[in-house]
Amino acid sequence: MSKTGKAKALMARYNANFSTSQIIMQEKRVLSGMRPTGGLHLGHYHGVLKNWQNLQNQYDSYFLYFQKTLSKPYAKDKIDLENNVMEMVIDWLAAGINPNTATIFVQSKVPEHAELHLLLSMSTPLSWLERVPSYKDQQLRLKTKDLATYGFLGYPLLQSADILIYKAGLVPVGEDQVAHVEFAREVARRFNFVYGRDADFEQKAEAAIGKMGKKQAKSYQSFRKIYQETGDSEALVKAQALLQEQQNITLGDRERLAGYIEGMGKIILPEPDSLLTEAAKMPGLDGQKMSKSYGNTISLRDSNEEIESKIKRMPTDPARVKITDAGDPEKCPVWRLHQIYSNETTCDWVKNGCSKAKIGCIECKQPVIEAVQTELIPMQERIKKYQADPDLIKQIIFEGSEKARNIARETMAEVREAMGIVY
Ligand code: TRP
Ligand code: SF4
Repeated sequence: MSKTGKAKALMARYNANFSTSQIIMQEKRVLSGMRPTGGLHLGHYHGVLKNWQNLQNQYDSYFLYFQKTLSKPYAKDKIDLENNVMEMVIDWLAAGINPNTATIFVQSKVPEHAELHLLLSMSTPLSWLERVPSYKDQQLRLKTKDLATYGFLGYPLLQSADILIYKAGLVPVGEDQVAHVEFAREVARRFNFVYGRDADFEQKAEAAIGKMGKKQAKSYQSFRKIYQETGDSEALVKAQALLQEQQNITLGDRERLAGYIEGMGKIILPEPDSLLTEAAKMPGLDGQKMSKSYGNTISLRDSNEEIESKIKRMPTDPARVKITDAGDPEKCPVWRLHQIYSNETTCDWVKNGCSKAKIGCIECKQPVIEAVQTELIPMQERIKKYQADPDLIKQIIFEGSEKARNIARETMAEVREAMGIVY
């Protein structure tokens, strides 16, 4: 790509609502995680996994299996963790997550997450954790459980460590997790501010500029000046693009110079952006969000018979008591499924047939039943295939976790150095 082409591409990314800072280091790394809730359903498939599937082809992607035991202090019900991990990963693979493109790993296999969590806890004010919305919510909702532990309060910080340790730039999440990613940004910003600025930061930055080549150095300085004086984000993006092209400066210098543009310290932990997954495309059987806790799911492993009976039991527009009563698809959760699964002809048939009382609800549901079954058959075949080969699954998890761990180790070395705990 030409120089201006690159700057343009960066600009486009910036315009597409990326934060102004730190586009450089975090470029092209995606991290997301899932908290196992026992078996994946169509909501996960349409809402999360399909999205991951697209991302894995565009970015260096890391998908983490987050251990529920860690968010569930004193879980007395012993869960079969090994089996849980295996079955979840099998579902991911069957749904199209490709272990050759994406890195699939388990959090507990990378103990560096715990170490970063601990170190970040030194610079994270308690009040930040207390005001994370999910903390208050859950405390109100789950009154019966003992949630007065640090583990529960500190959950968003552990999640920050999950993200920051990979210097991930993009974190695809649903709406409920956006506040957590925002929290991770604050944690990173503060960390960089506190530990990123060593005494001779400025001198080192100036020395790094000197290594850049005269013309380039001049451009960098003028972009930096414009940005600092006017806050012109275009200048920022251009300066960042310029840094990205530098061959002859070290990564450390590049990070230093990236921070220097904005007048900050060295950026050790880049701030991630959340990549908001569109609101749940897949409604549950009752029209609410599909979720295990609402009991309105179709599991990826449901048999044809289960699918049929679940959809047949779905509520429809209450106005249609008798087949001769006209209905309104907009008031019916079945219609939402047609919008996902049916072509235009079928959709017209539904709209017309429903509003003119020409079709019955059972009849109307039939194409949806078939579409869901057709969607899940190949997935279930793959699930069977993977289940027959547990060694392969273990290997995928092992290799993914090793790869993730190598990156985590590198970040930890930088973090420890910045904090002055190298000995
Ligand atoms: N907290 C997420 C959830 O409850 C799971 C998760 C853990 C996660 N670590 C993450 C998501 C890192 C994104 C990035 O669904
Ligand atoms: Fe819903 Fe179809 Fe029945 Fe209309 S005909 S109420 S869209 S199931």
